[in-house]
Amino acid sequence: MEDPIRKIAITTGGGDAPGLNAVIRAAVITALNLEWEVCGIRRGYSGLLDEDTDGIERLDRRAVRGITHLGGTILGTTNRGNPFDWPVERPGGTVTSVDRSDELLANFRRHGLDALIAIGGDGSLYIANRLYQKGLPVVGVPKTIDNDLACTEVTFGFHTAVETATEALDKLHSTAESHERVFVVELMGRHTGWIALYAGISATADVILIPEIPFEIEKVCEKVEVRYASGARFAIIVAAEGAAPKGGAPVYREHAGPGRNARLGGIGEWIAREVAERTGHEVRSLILGHLQRGGQPTAYDRLLALRFGAAAARFVAEGRFGTMVALDSTGMRAVPLAEAISQIKRVPPAGEIVRTARDLRISFGD
Ligand code: F6P
Repeated sequence: MEDPIRKIAITTGGGDAPGLNAVIRAAVITALNLEWEVCGIRRGYSGLLDEDTDGIERLDRRAVRGITHLGGTILGTTNRGNPFDWPVERPGGTVTSVDRSDELLANFRRHGLDALIAIGGDGSLYIANRLYQKGLPVVGVPKTIDNDLACTEVTFGFHTAVETATEALDKLHSTAESHERVFVVELMGRHTGWIALYAGISATADVILIPEIPFEIEKVCEKVEVRYASGARFAIIVAAEGAAPKGGAPVYREHAGPGRNARLGGIGEWIAREVAERTGHEVRSLILGHLQRGGQPTAYDRLLALRFGAAAARFVAEGRFGTMVALDSTGMRAVPLAEAISQIKRVPPAGEIVRTARDLRISFGD
């Protein structure tokens, strides 16, 4: 018989997303009902490595009271805390990385922890899977506003991000119309265009540009001209940050380095410049950025996050380690972490939602 669970830990890693606190609360309450002790690891996996600081805290009923509706994460997070690729500064200022995973495992055991609930996106769950392969009992929960994790119908945080983006696009409409301008709005979506697609259609954008459908700038300009010629003398172009022209590459602000992800950003500005030069219309661009990651989760995301958290604790109780909680039409199920991280969930270019957009005469610039 396997050892009974007595003490578990929870961690939140990668970019924050609305609903993280609701997952934590549901996992903690479900675990406490099972009479387990629960700890929170601060700042992703870093709390198990930076032990001189407040790396680990006890999560009791009081610690998770009144947090369901709050954005962010009470545990803090980082997207620079990969224990397998930990950045270290060498004399002279160069930064390299070292593998601190053995140290992490040793600290996990030293704290008497029996299992880990890892809430994260592709990066954090990739780390979770590697730790699982090294013997750490882990259950993952899919988090990302980008909605790009495979094996689950949806990730929590996505719905709230779409609401925020739609509201922003709605607000821009009045200025675009009053000034007869073209607005280019860059939304988050590193590899996929889920936010751009959902918010773009909901806010009746004229052009939606996503990484899954490489675009031609000429076609984007054509759509703008058709609109102006029809009497609607303004246009809204929505671009996912990872969108790229046919044969071109996404625009990066910062390239990846030891322990550090690449940062996308700037495609919107490029499109705006091109459209202004080619059409002569007045064009403005903006990047909605981290506003999409903040704020209170919508009721949909709260419920989803609470379901994910409770299911994660149940899966720990059932010993279903090395899995990720996933939503499908039947409810919550456990899918192997390895499967969930083996690919990303892209927008199907020939799918029904893209088709709906095309039926509504929204251009994808292709
Ligand atoms: O993964 C979510 C995400 O919102 C991406 O769309 C975006 O590229 C990234 O986070 C930005 O993260 P940060 O600025 O925190 O490094």
